Amino acid sequence: MNIDLHSALRWKNPPDSYFFTCILDEVISGYVESLTENEKKLLLENPNDFDSLVSGDWQEQLLLKLTTSPGCILIKSGESFSDETLRCIYALYCRSIGLLNNRYGYFFDVVDQGLDYTKQAIPVSKTRSSTGYHTDSTAKEYLPDIVGLLCLHPGAVGGDSLLTNAANLYDHLLQNHPDVLELMQKPIIRDVITPGTTNSVESIKENAFPIFSFPIEGFTFRYMRYWIESAYQKTGQTLPTKLIQGLEETDHYFSNPDNYLQFKLERGDILFLNNRFICHNRTAFENNSSKTLQRTLVRTWINSEKSEVLK
Ligand SMILES: [Fe+2]
Repeated sequence: MNIDLHSALRWKNPPDSYFFTCILDEVISGYVESLTENEKKLLLENPNDFDSLVSGDWQEQLLLKLTTSPGCILIKSGESFSDETLRCIYALYCRSIGLLNNRYGYFFDVVDQGLDYTKQAIPVSKTRSSTGYHTDSTAKEYLPDIVGLLCLHPGAVGGDSLLTNAANLYDHLLQNHPDVLELMQKPIIRDVITPGTTNSVESIKENAFPIFSFPIEGFTFRYMRYWIESAYQKTGQTLPTKLIQGLEETDHYFSNPDNYLQFKLERGDILFLNNRFICHNRTAFENNSSKTLQRTLVRTWINSEKSEVLK
């Protein structure tokens, strides 16, 4: 493990709001306003083919915040732009980070679809439940480096965002529960929920990977308790005692107010997270009766142009 890199990922004094907010760079909004209708269409429908990107100090700062501590950044665009302009601003920021993944569509609208993830194997992003702390993607072969979220409508009640840092959890486990940490670095099965895949005992058994690992990209944490427990249940296996202890300790650590950041996204807010060490959660939410003002976030999965996990 690269010790220096690991210490650069840790939150020193969490949670502290100073580190991750910035206002929309005028270079970006000005550039979006200069785009033709065809260019906007290309940016939103085939973003990876959109090559005429702008760059500048803002881009360097953005990447630095995402690849080292704090690993997350909130950009306040303001409420005044139209939905289409906000989507274009967001798309441009996403492309300035890397290439976009198309598993759920390049830009996936996170809205309540009236579904229940405890009754069928669907992503919690299609419900209005609390998600629990997790990193995105339960598929062994694909991991987004960065997760992006654009808030178009915050919803009526709830739906707060919560962020915590798994690099700090790693240190906590290393000091207090090294035997549990050792188990969490071995392959652990997860349920299979990605659209277009088969949910079977065989596919779940194959979908096994560690919670903590150190691939060439560096410290990586892949966690969602619910899909680990449902994988064990569906395959008829008993959760090892040490794994239960690890899940309990993880949830306990993440639920300590000293260790997480909580805030509510407002219209026009753009949030980027490093999905390798920042773990996210959402409180349950309620919409009001207006269909047009349903809580709507636009999610994007982004990988570095050099990444080998683009599919
Ligand atoms: Fe998520």
